[in-house]
Amino acid sequence: MTTQDQLKKAVGERAASLVKDGMKIGLGSGSTVYWLVRALGERIKQEGIQIEGIPSSIQTGEWAKEFGVPLTDFAATKELDVTIDGSDEVDPDFHLIKGGGAALFREKIIAQAAQKLIIIVDESKMVAQLGAFALPVEILPFSWERTAHEIEKLGCVPVLRLKDGAPLVTDNGNYIVDCPFEKINDPADLDNKLQQIVGVVETGLFIDMADAVIIGSSEGVTIKEK
Ligand code: A5P
Repeated sequence: MTTQDQLKKAVGERAASLVKDGMKIGLGSGSTVYWLVRALGERIKQEGIQIEGIPSSIQTGEWAKEFGVPLTDFAATKELDVTIDGSDEVDPDFHLIKGGGAALFREKIIAQAAQKLIIIVDESKMVAQLGAFALPVEILPFSWERTAHEIEKLGCVPVLRLKDGAPLVTDNGNYIVDCPFEKINDPADLDNKLQQIVGVVETGLFIDMADAVIIGSSEGVTIKEK
């Protein structure tokens, strides 16, 4: 296992240790969340805690089944106690760039549904300013070129994300464009402008949503609360 994977495992396990019996949990996506789901499955087996999760991607749902974490959905549950998710960048105000795994839309739904959003990252994700990681934006396939053209006017050249030589299709049947803004001076303003473009389904900017960040570094695991 690489050092970075060890850090991801450490923060995933720490987050799992904070979950309480009876909680309904939003389960994010990505390689850090893998360790969270695995550790939750262990706690269910060892301690018999009763929890239910709503996954933010098909992949996370499969991990939940593999590790024995019971799932529910928004037909049965409208509010979650906590959502735990990874991130691609976290700035000093806890604004986030997410969507490296193309799951940003459902991730934002479970983030908004939760009383508390906890982000789990290794220290490489902590940045002074958002934008070095190209911002993922989910857009409708219909006239995606026009939508990308409008996004371009905001100061980047969007790149359609591909998989095996064809446009990547999200769990929601949409496309992703990765937008290399490089430096995002006002994340809330950019998010507002992107949301106004017809064809944009959702952006990977998570503004004022995270309540706590669990960070893994060579020094150990630290929890920062807002
Ligand atoms: C998925 O769409 C993303 O938002 C992930 O949460 C993010 O890419 C972090 O992934 P890793 O934990 O794999 O770094």
